[in-house]
Amino acid sequence: MVAPNVPPSVPSSSPKNKAIAALVAGLVFLVALAGIQNAPQSSGVPPALPKLDPNLVPLVTGEEPIQELFVRAGCVVCHRIPGIAGAEGKVGPPLWLGKTGAARLADPQYRGQAQTVREYIVESVVSPGTYVVPGFPADTMPAWYGRKLSAGALAKIATYLEQITEETSPGSR
Ligand code: HEC
Repeated sequence: MVAPNVPPSVPSSSPKNKAIAALVAGLVFLVALAGIQNAPQSSGVPPALPKLDPNLVPLVTGEEPIQELFVRAGCVVCHRIPGIAGAEGKVGPPLWLGKTGAARLADPQYRGQAQTVREYIVESVVSPGTYVVPGFPADTMPAWYGRKLSAGALAKIATYLEQITEETSPGSR
């Protein structure tokens, strides 16, 4: 009996291919983000303010892990968010609403509908013009998030942000 001399077949590197595909997709996304930040500004907008193109922002379902959710939605470009890697934006206020939310609601200039910090967060995201945080530019936070974020995504964002009272996050660092 002669054993057939077949070399053990190496399963063609499918996990590796997947990893490479994921890496390429990640790179494409990063390049798109860099493009957003360096995009020439339309006239009238001060050059330092980034502008997100809604066509480049995918629908956010709320199924994503919180880190991915904030990155996908582009929040990280403009906001510092404790516990979220890469969220170092300085255009808007740091998002630690557990610390700042109550003061927003108590501001005599506040004219919105929110009764709780959680409602304030949702309102700030879907209707940023309702209340402009003093010291930050108006008409800068995109007004189209209501069309890009599912109710589940908004709930997840609110749950995360309302818990942040300090530099550190609810858990992820
Ligand atoms: C292009 C820049 C930009 C992007 C992108 C952006 N924001 Fe903002 N955001 C701002 C600015 C500027 C303000 C402050 C002015 C105002 O209140 O509209 C703000 C205000 C806020 C506030 C109120 C904060 C406070 O301290 O009262 C919340 C909450 C918020 N943003 C959440 C988000 C979330 C969540 C995302 C992503 C889904 C996001 N923002 C994306 C610029 C941005």
